[in-house]
Amino acid sequence: MLAGKKLLLIIGGGIAAYKCLDLIRRLKERGASVTPVLTPAAKEFVTPLSVAALAGEKVYTDLFDLTDEAEMGHIQLSRVADLVLVAPATANLMAKMAGGHANDLATTLLMATDTPVMIAPAMNLRMWEHPATQRNLATLQGDGIKVVGPNAGDMACGEYGDGRMSEPLEIVAALEAALADGPLKGKRVLVTSGPTHEPIDPVRYIANRSSGAQGTAIAAALARLGAEVVFVTGPADVPPPEGVKVIKVQSAEDMRAAVLDALPVDAGVFAAAVADWRVKRESHSKIKKQAGELPVLEFAENPDILAEVSRMTTGRPKLVIGFAAETDDVVANATAKRKRKGCDWIVANDVSPSTGIMGGTENAVHLITETSAQDWPRMSKREVGHKLAEQIAAALA
Ligand code: CTP
Repeated sequence: MLAGKKLLLIIGGGIAAYKCLDLIRRLKERGASVTPVLTPAAKEFVTPLSVAALAGEKVYTDLFDLTDEAEMGHIQLSRVADLVLVAPATANLMAKMAGGHANDLATTLLMATDTPVMIAPAMNLRMWEHPATQRNLATLQGDGIKVVGPNAGDMACGEYGDGRMSEPLEIVAALEAALADGPLKGKRVLVTSGPTHEPIDPVRYIANRSSGAQGTAIAAALARLGAEVVFVTGPADVPPPEGVKVIKVQSAEDMRAAVLDALPVDAGVFAAAVADWRVKRESHSKIKKQAGELPVLEFAENPDILAEVSRMTTGRPKLVIGFAAETDDVVANATAKRKRKGCDWIVANDVSPSTGIMGGTENAVHLITETSAQDWPRMSKREVGHKLAEQIAAALA
């Protein structure tokens, strides 16, 4: 999928720059060409010689390398690529990008480019969590810049947490998704996934057994077919896929707000196992045990996100897909649910414990539309995701 693609790789000045040497090899193996640009600080971590040797191309380091228009000018350099990748994107580089600075070659190229940009942030945990970095991240995402990572793990600085640059193969997957020329190119699709957590008090919550595996597989498959995917996920067991915009939420009410914020979309896939009820009055301090007394929880109904989006009169996605997790009369219940919620399709599955589907790697689903009910054989959740993504692509064509 990367064969023939041209990448402009801006290497920032962080210790994770060493991973770019392997990244260049992985990209070249897949047939992509890589034009490297090093910031002045990056040269402290990797040498232009090793980068040039791996890339097989001239390394650009200085704005004034490009002032001789007999060579390639900076405007041209910024535009010949299919995508500009910034890895590692340091806190400083992200701040400059968010602020629109253009005071060296890398930032000038980023300001001048009209091609898609992806960043792979890498920095100390505290720097990543700092409100300034999070503000810059939100600005960059709002500008349409794609983000891969960072991951959690041990850091070169000796701390542990979010801030490690994604591994080369994760970046490759994100690039493949971003550059996919599939049938969903140009389409924006929302996917909800995972369980929701409904708080009781600061330490307790009500949850369900959804792992988020099926929603994640669907989002990954949609991205592989070229869709721009907004992935709104509750606290799932499986990590979110690469190459999608991830919005993490906790409760059904948070999920509703994130979904409404993500609209308009061409299609919405509501795979999340949203809690039907929340505790009416969340206690803001821990509920203590009291001898002889049991706490009584009063419930309130959560907003039905799928039904609300299905019934929108303006801005409704062209295709709205719900899920039905049933234990009895699967097809009959799901058919009734499709009508009740007002969605176009329902993906129904039998979640009785004996099926091993909830929390497992396989699924056996029925796809119910207004006019048909297809029974799909038992297959992996990845295959279900792929098959559903293909049908979505056909419906949106
Ligand atoms: N859903 C939603 N918001 C809710 C509850 C459910 O968006 N508050 C969505 C789910 O993401 C799923 C579909 O609705 O796509 C089915 O959810 P389910 O809870 O099975 O449906 P219910 O109408 O609650 O029916 P049941 O009586 O079976 O619980």
